[in-house]
Amino acid sequence: PEIIIVKNEAEAGAIYGRCVANLIKAKPDAVLGLATGSSPLAAYRALAEIVTAESIDVSQVRGFALDEYIGLPLEHPESYHSTIRRTVIEPLGLDPAKVRVPGDALDGAPLEDGERIAAAGPAYDRAIEDAGGIDVQILGIGTDGHVGFNEPGSSLASGTRVKTLAEQTRVDNARFFDGDIDKVPTHCITQGIGTIMKARHLVLLAFGSGKAEAIEETVEGGVSAYCPASALQMHPHATIIVDEEAASRLR
Ligand code: F6R
Repeated sequence: PEIIIVKNEAEAGAIYGRCVANLIKAKPDAVLGLATGSSPLAAYRALAEIVTAESIDVSQVRGFALDEYIGLPLEHPESYHSTIRRTVIEPLGLDPAKVRVPGDALDGAPLEDGERIAAAGPAYDRAIEDAGGIDVQILGIGTDGHVGFNEPGSSLASGTRVKTLAEQTRVDNARFFDGDIDKVPTHCITQGIGTIMKARHLVLLAFGSGKAEAIEETVEGGVSAYCPASALQMHPHATIIVDEEAASRLR
């Protein structure tokens, strides 16, 4: 992958913002792959600023989020449906009808609703294909090398499917659920690594020393399901944007 070391999140955000703004000018119905979490926030802000400053028409832009919890109603404030609306759709002024989240057909359906839940993943992958594929997929990375909710051990060829959340991820995310791990859903639906690899351009963002080991594994380790992000080594157009702390273990 191409590695870009930046001073801070704002500088990384500006690179993403310029890249995507140019894409939308050239292809008004561009398909954006969207992530939640803290890493992409400056990038969304930068893109929103450019879109406003240059009056770019985003009315045709389409979006597909990476992942969603199972069992949360869409309108739950911590659902990724709500999070993507707050952090991407509203600031950018996108048409909400053109932005999808995996499992948006489930709307809080419980895990027990097995058939419906099992069908949601393949339906999502078909929707991405029907849209012509994702042009630019933004990614964060977990301290354990996860991308989307593809935790260590996830098949590098996987499509969108239901997964259990790793205990550590539930502990990490309890902060969004009153600090109560019992309120954190146990399962999620996530684009697979195989789905992510089909996007034409991957942009992975990582900041801070907590991500240094995961970035080292991703870039310099062997390609392995134990570091799902290492699949980026096999992608023809992957860009990894890191600050100096996240890059600190690179040779
Ligand atoms: C978010 C996602 C996760 C995060 C990752 C990093 O949709 O799929 O893989 O990107 O957990 O989270 P942050 O950016 O909050 O450090």
